[in-house]
Amino acid sequence: MRFTRSESTVIRSVSALELVALLPELTELFRETVNSGSPLGFLAPITHAAARDYWISLIRELEAGSRILLVASGDNIVVGSGQLELSQRPNSPHRAELQKLFVDRASRGQGIGRSLVRALHDAARENGRTLIRLSTRHGEPAEAFYKSLGYKEVGVIPGWTIDRTGERYDHVELYQELARDTGDQG
Ligand SMILES: CC(C)(COP(=O)(O)OP(=O)(O)OC[C@H]1O[C@@H](n2cnc3c(N)ncnc32)[C@H](O)[C@@H]1OP(=O)(O)O)[C@@H](O)C(=O)NCCC(=O)NCCS
Repeated sequence: MRFTRSESTVIRSVSALELVALLPELTELFRETVNSGSPLGFLAPITHAAARDYWISLIRELEAGSRILLVASGDNIVVGSGQLELSQRPNSPHRAELQKLFVDRASRGQGIGRSLVRALHDAARENGRTLIRLSTRHGEPAEAFYKSLGYKEVGVIPGWTIDRTGERYDHVELYQELARDTGDQG
């Protein structure tokens, strides 16, 4: 699957085999993102080894087809990524969770995050998934970003995550029901 965002940025789906080749780039970009204030499920500072182990842990799900990984590249350099975890439960074949969306700090504000979300929505539809859920820290810029892409708020869970000092952070649960064609806001 290949989604072209603009002449300079290409968004594509990454297989397990391709992930192995991209490990060094994704590891460094992920590490930099986590350590600059966007924890993405980890505790900063994250080591190179822990970040690499995280990406390696995805290989099995990519092979099984239960996870979709997209990367955005400019001039063949990875500048962003996002994932969909496809529900494997028998009662929810229409559902997916959007996870680990991030864009290189130097490339933010150019529409790459928005394009990644749109490409994730297209990938969701192609896999029969129309109900998308996600969780993000409440009150941080990503919340407004997702809402601008059509996500609706379910509610806020107080103290859902912690940082390394033990301080707790509220998270907001968001969802979007995608139109079957590309008519949704995202
Ligand atoms: C959230 C993130 C992926 C957005 O990527 P991006 O490429 O900068 O976003 P875009 O340029 O596509 O912006 C899309 C819209 O969101 C808005 N937006 C993006 N980042 C924003 C911010 N920090 N504050 C306010 N609005 C923001 C933009 O104004 C834009 O709206 P517009 O098109 O009306 O101008 C990126 O900021 C990021 O990687 N953040 C750190 C990781 C993170 O928090 N991920 C989400 C965790 S669940």
